Amino acid sequence: MNERRTYAIIGCGMMGREHMRNLALVPGAELIAICDPDAGSLKAAQQQAEILNQSVRLFDDSAAMLAAAKPDAVIVASPNFTHFDVVQPVMETGCAVLLEKPMCTEPADARALAEAASVYPGLFWVGLEYRYMPPVTRFAERVHAREAGDIKMLAIREHRFPFLVKVGDWNRFNRNTGGTLVEKCCHFFDLMRHILRDEPVRIFASGAQDVNHLDELYGGEVPDIIDNAFVLVDFAGGARAVLDLCMFAEGSQQQEEISAVGPLGKLEVKLPAAEIIWSPRDRSGAVIEPVATPQDALDAGSHHGASYFQLSHFHRALVNGTRAQVDARDGYRSVVMGAAAQQSIATGQPVDIRFDEED
Ligand SMILES: NC(=O)c1ccc[n+]([C@@H]2O[C@H](COP(=O)([O-])OP(=O)(O)OC[C@H]3O[C@@H](n4cnc5c(N)ncnc54)[C@H](O)[C@@H]3O)[C@@H](O)[C@H]2O)c1
Repeated sequence: MNERRTYAIIGCGMMGREHMRNLALVPGAELIAICDPDAGSLKAAQQQAEILNQSVRLFDDSAAMLAAAKPDAVIVASPNFTHFDVVQPVMETGCAVLLEKPMCTEPADARALAEAASVYPGLFWVGLEYRYMPPVTRFAERVHAREAGDIKMLAIREHRFPFLVKVGDWNRFNRNTGGTLVEKCCHFFDLMRHILRDEPVRIFASGAQDVNHLDELYGGEVPDIIDNAFVLVDFAGGARAVLDLCMFAEGSQQQEEISAVGPLGKLEVKLPAAEIIWSPRDRSGAVIEPVATPQDALDAGSHHGASYFQLSHFHRALVNGTRAQVDARDGYRSVVMGAAAQQSIATGQPVDIRFDEED
């Protein structure tokens, strides 16, 4: 079978360039064009393309790029607030789409896009890639094999460094990102749904901007993005999940820790330790399973191999004509959960969530 498919990237900042490095690793995935209105980003991407032996055409305008390059697939890695407008002309071409998370900054836009994607004839995939970190993939497999029984409690902790500096500092304001719990934490809300195979019914959150970015000024404005939160999520089937986010914990030994506890025991995974710990309830002792990730996949990005494996699956779906593993409905629902958590922090009240079948 001919596995060659051509790709273009819109937005060549940090994440666009991570996608470039992954494309260089996936057989048959040929990057032919890149686009960015920022000359510095385009130049950095061009220099990287030379190192990777990728022969790319450069554009500062996505409409011109789509018309000239006619790629089979487009990766949209522009800032969150641009996704809604940037992706629609891409969809008009009918090509496959890998849209970075969060799908949109507002639930209403995400819903409109999910509706359009539900009747889109091409592949439409949302970049909620944390499912593809090999230790997390393995952890979910073991949860789904019911080793711990029906999961009653799922806890996701991310203790990490502050938000990085972005081109034009777009990530310093909620209006551009959707808020920290949409921007960053859509990954974790997607993981909750994926691991529990269930849907949320209620969210309560407490959080604030207590430490980070308070001494920064952009056009006279101080950033307004929260840097720590606890988010409680009740799921329809009765499971409870919690997100514990801290973004001033650079010294933490583990960046992500996920645990799932059921009547038979507890499964845990930690990153970057990349091991799964099974602690059966009968106290027979913990069993540790190390999970390796190929070095080239680790080196290509800063997401423990996730973006490489996501792209590999995306390319396979493109070649085989199969469905997206992470679709617009997943994208929409993760935005709704993040926005509900932001709302709960703002009001101090829990937020009920009810997805209709078609949502
Ligand atoms: N999947 C992940 O884990 C992950 C990690 C980081 C970032 N992201 C997402 O990737 C996207 C980009 O983030 P980043 O960290 O690369 O930011 P960045 O600021 O480093 O890069 C964004 C680039 O997009 C360009 N851009 C701005 N408007 C554009 C437009 N209309 N068309 C084309 N390009 C445009 C900017 O000039 C910049 O070069 C965001 O949506 C972000 O949330 C995802």
